[in-house]
Amino acid sequence: MAEIDEKRANLFYSEIPQQADLFFLKGCNSLDWGMKNRLARIFNSSTGRTVMLAFDHGYFQGPTSGLERIDLSILPLISYADSIMLTRGILRTIIPASTTKSVVLRVSGGSSILKELSNEGLVVDIEEAIRLNACALAVQVFIGGEYEKETVLNMTKLVDVGTRYGIPTLAVTAVGREMQRDARYFRLACRICAELGAHFIKTYYVEEDFETVTASCPVPIVIAGGKKIPEFEALKMAYRAIQEGAAGVDMGRNIFQSNYPEAMIQAVRAVVHQNETPEKAYALYQELAATRTKA
Ligand code: 5RP
Repeated sequence: MAEIDEKRANLFYSEIPQQADLFFLKGCNSLDWGMKNRLARIFNSSTGRTVMLAFDHGYFQGPTSGLERIDLSILPLISYADSIMLTRGILRTIIPASTTKSVVLRVSGGSSILKELSNEGLVVDIEEAIRLNACALAVQVFIGGEYEKETVLNMTKLVDVGTRYGIPTLAVTAVGREMQRDARYFRLACRICAELGAHFIKTYYVEEDFETVTASCPVPIVIAGGKKIPEFEALKMAYRAIQEGAAGVDMGRNIFQSNYPEAMIQAVRAVVHQNETPEKAYALYQELAATRTKA
């Protein structure tokens, strides 16, 4: 036995120190292994960025334009996304369980477009999120909204319970109908969410000083697309957001309400993962659109 051990001694490579890599996402190095692994299923570790496809809008506004039949409009897009953001109802009823895409599960709700939007609670418990193999839990936070405190506490509860099981929290800085969207507001909202424990944050792009929003937020930021705008404008917005420090997009309407959603999501990918300019990405959109039928 002693003889065999001597022969194998060189396999210990004692002169090579074991590597201690830093985790690739900003502010996430001190998280636990499971939490990092889930984040690495949402963000691509080669680029440090993500293209999340958001189609959770029905949770407060019903069958939004483009989401009337998610089986027909969204399923063909999923292969182009790094991650999908949706409700448990749509996950169970429409998304094939064979998907390997990471799931960001919408877990706040309780209000509708007919009433005060900020009056939300947590509507999914942690066991259900685990059962559904969620990689992150998404919660709306209405800073300055009528139910500001309640939505902040929804988020902190989620951070606590998610941390217990290694599931990150995505805070969505929601703007009510009347709130002003500028860098000052989003600096405030994003920073509050990060200080209180959110692991990554979804916010809106603003033309002026967006880099101050990303710089002053210690965790990754992804941008929502917002209302549908022309494809070239949406690609410009995504490009600027990325160049100004966003770690990706969590885009819905500007993809699924496009005339050519499959072409659009591929163009968005080019901007996010290949730093493609809006002009080149738009040319790609047009080229791909030319081969497809209108949605
Ligand atoms: C609702 C959400 C939506 O997922 C999000 O706004 C969708 O993205 P888009 O604005 O690009 O349609 O978080 O508050």
